[in-house]
Amino acid sequence: MKPDARALAASGLAEIALRGASLREVMERSAPRLPDPRDRALLMALLSEGARWWLRYDAALDELLARPLKRKEPAIHALLVLGLVQLEVLELEDYAAVAATVEATRALKRPALAGLVNAVLRRWQRERGDRLAGLDAQPATRHAHPDWLAAALATDWPAQAEAVMAADNREPPLMLRANHRHGDRDALVAALRDAGQAAGAHPWLADGIVLPHSTDVTRLPGFAEGAFAVQDGAAQVAADLVDARDGQRVLDACAAPGGKACHLLERAGVELTALEMDGHRAPRIRQNLERLQLSAKLIVGDAGDPSSWWDNRPFDRILIDAPCSASGVLRRRPDVRLHRRARDIAALGVQQRRILHALWPLLAPGGRLVYATCSLLRAENEAVVTELLAAQADAEVVPFDLPVGQRAAVGWQLLPGDGDLDGMYYAVLRKRP
Ligand SMILES: C[S@@+](CC[C@H](N)C(=O)[O-])C[C@H]1O[C@@H](n2cnc3c(N)ncnc32)[C@H](O)[C@@H]1O
Repeated sequence: MKPDARALAASGLAEIALRGASLREVMERSAPRLPDPRDRALLMALLSEGARWWLRYDAALDELLARPLKRKEPAIHALLVLGLVQLEVLELEDYAAVAATVEATRALKRPALAGLVNAVLRRWQRERGDRLAGLDAQPATRHAHPDWLAAALATDWPAQAEAVMAADNREPPLMLRANHRHGDRDALVAALRDAGQAAGAHPWLADGIVLPHSTDVTRLPGFAEGAFAVQDGAAQVAADLVDARDGQRVLDACAAPGGKACHLLERAGVELTALEMDGHRAPRIRQNLERLQLSAKLIVGDAGDPSSWWDNRPFDRILIDAPCSASGVLRRRPDVRLHRRARDIAALGVQQRRILHALWPLLAPGGRLVYATCSLLRAENEAVVTELLAAQADAEVVPFDLPVGQRAAVGWQLLPGDGDLDGMYYAVLRKRP
């Protein structure tokens, strides 16, 4: 029997939402079982939008089901969430969405539940006006965010929280970074247009190229030769702020998969050390360096414990792209909102402080350190940097502005949607000579 994309998506979504699996691992495991590329595209859309909207339509099901299915029948529960997502988000034709969802109960070997699935989806269709109004009444279910994150955003960014959560649910553009060493960005834009892509140069990022929709980048002209990399514009800001010059010693302290490390190397002839603690992620730095024809010293080690890897030669530039909640990149990683917990923030703060305090002594006098996260939460951002400033008499803030975003107590916050970029935080510090 031909595998059913909806049934595969339902089993996969149950694993993502109820058992902590990542969207990426589920997709990598399930997609090869679907020979037809259209089925694979449907699987991807169902898994991504199912994860993105889980917290809204899971809440709806809690009210539609007399007895919860989550524990006993997780795949059928996820299939129902996907039924609502097909009707409300993907806007598939009602009849087809309901019939195909009911049919998938057979592929899941639960034909006895076909009637229940049909009845729940039909009831939703009859009552959807009132039920949508109920879901829209609360910010968390309106935007399918966990309660703790909706509350944290309302505390940290009261004026922007609604717009941030709405941006987390919009399709982001595909952003590329033209490889400065490979050729001219305008020539690459022209080649992409010749290949039928609606590509354009980013209005203020020197290397940025914007395409309105995601596509298979390995088929774009120049991919194999390393003419570009995929990188959101918010992350491309890092190289401007690090401002590395030829001949300098640069440390990228949290480097995998190497996006920012490669950008630094494309911009200047620096001696770059790429440090990464996770031995499974580190090889991805090597792959990216090779494709872009760049070289760096790669170390698997702990940024919080320099004694185990540092050669005692100070760095002129240090980039700390710290491990964080990833609360700024929910639009690109829709499963993150299902996996993060409020308690993670304090634990991440401990790691962020540990890394920043351990690396400050490695910065040369007059050198520059950039602290970055893809978090929106002040506890992971300005609170961490403010503490370092209080502890280190030789640390001073380098002020800067970006064309979009918000000034923070220290540094700058890009919120999702500001300039159609991901959310990122940056602070730039200098060591007094
Ligand atoms: C936000 S990601 C870095 C993304 C990367 N800079 C890029 O642009 O492609 C953070 C990385 O820090 C690594 N990491 C976490 N704790 C670390 C530590 N104590 N020392 C070194 N790396 C660490 C994580 O494994 C993760 O790969």
